[in-house]
Amino acid sequence: MGSSVNSSSTPPSIRLHVNAGACDVTAEPGTALLHVLRNDLALNGPKYGCGLGECGACTVLIDGVAARSCVIPVKAVQGREVTTLEGLGTRQQPGTTQQAFIDCQAAQCGYCLNGMIMTVEALLRRNPNPSDDAIRRELHHNLCRCGTHVEIMMAAHRAAQLRAGGAAGVDATVSESTPSLGGGARDD
Ligand code: FES
Ligand code: FES
Repeated sequence: MGSSVNSSSTPPSIRLHVNAGACDVTAEPGTALLHVLRNDLALNGPKYGCGLGECGACTVLIDGVAARSCVIPVKAVQGREVTTLEGLGTRQQPGTTQQAFIDCQAAQCGYCLNGMIMTVEALLRRNPNPSDDAIRRELHHNLCRCGTHVEIMMAAHRAAQLRAGGAAGVDATVSESTPSLGGGARDD
């Protein structure tokens, strides 16, 4: 179901900047960005999980900062740069964070992965060499129901390594002291 369904009054056209391109969508201004991305722009990297801003499955970058697209009205991102999972790389040429998750096999069902990858990407853009604690804090409110936390921590360190130009093997010791990453609602 698209967000551009006509009713008696036609929703306005809204210009968006997504993944380094501009596009116009027809949507009610209060429509969640997530729905516009998925239903109107066919960008299905961001996932619908809770719809309440609590699980992180829908995470995108807005001006380089991780944000939960299920609770952000589309009108709020006019004039801002939105990056989705698709904007980080392609299947043939994954971005470094995507490649790191592949290298570490950091997935079971994969539903949380969009949020994990986008959140790690945002972290590494502002902190290229984060500690275990910094990664843990960043991912604390991204829920993974499959218990893939150990591999996700490894992938975050691997992504930092790849961004720095390193090609060394995966460091399996990273995860030894990894506690739960999933928590409750965001408090920031
Ligand atoms: S679907 Fe957006 S935070 Fe859960
Ligand atoms: S891999 Fe299934 S929710 Fe994280």
